[in-house]
Amino acid sequence: MNESDKRAAALAAIEEVRPGMVVGLGTGSTAAFAIAALGERRLDIRAVPTSLASAALARAAGIALIDLPAQIDLTIDGADEIDSRFRAIKGAGGAMLREKVVASASIRMIVIADSSKRVDTIGVAPIPVEVLPFAQAFVAARLAALGGTVTPRTGFVSDQANPILDCRFPPDVDHALLAAHIAQIPGALGHGLFLSEVSAVYIAENGVVTRLERGRTAD
Ligand code: A5P
Repeated sequence: MNESDKRAAALAAIEEVRPGMVVGLGTGSTAAFAIAALGERRLDIRAVPTSLASAALARAAGIALIDLPAQIDLTIDGADEIDSRFRAIKGAGGAMLREKVVASASIRMIVIADSSKRVDTIGVAPIPVEVLPFAQAFVAARLAALGGTVTPRTGFVSDQANPILDCRFPPDVDHALLAAHIAQIPGALGHGLFLSEVSAVYIAENGVVTRLERGRTAD
């Protein structure tokens, strides 16, 4: 992972932010660069943070925060993996439940990343699943029945005080089917598969930022 490339991707992406926008603020070390840079620009925006940590960063940067509205203009967030079909795995930081809500509410969702996050096909990074504490054993068994190797994330709870199960699936798993199956498990509150939400990717390698748009370069 390359900190200067994370920053380069973040700085390129925030050029899309315009005064008056409602902006979704992602979570993680790459999104933190975007939050800091947005604060420095002193743009007249209102923002929705995807985590308590990002809310604290935004407040410190002087960004006005609002509750989640029905629609967000633009969200900028990181990813653990992003592939050539704009499918992402998110949630290494445990914020994927709010991140999914914010991404889904967004007209446009940009992933920012250094080149270490770019993969041909998602699936090496574990897929995190946030669970209702009451249902943890049941959900873990259902995820195992779907072919997952399930590892509870120890010493961690989400911003909603829920546990996270990190799940590894065989490389040839059908991620669309998997996402649909996980969504049907009672007590599974959210997962880190972002298969349709990402509109564009800003990826930086050795200081060079490449912008990829869904629909222009892939499906
Ligand atoms: C937070 O839960 C995640 O989805 C992050 O967006 C993701 O883990 C990327 O984080 P980094 O930018 O720190 O790699």
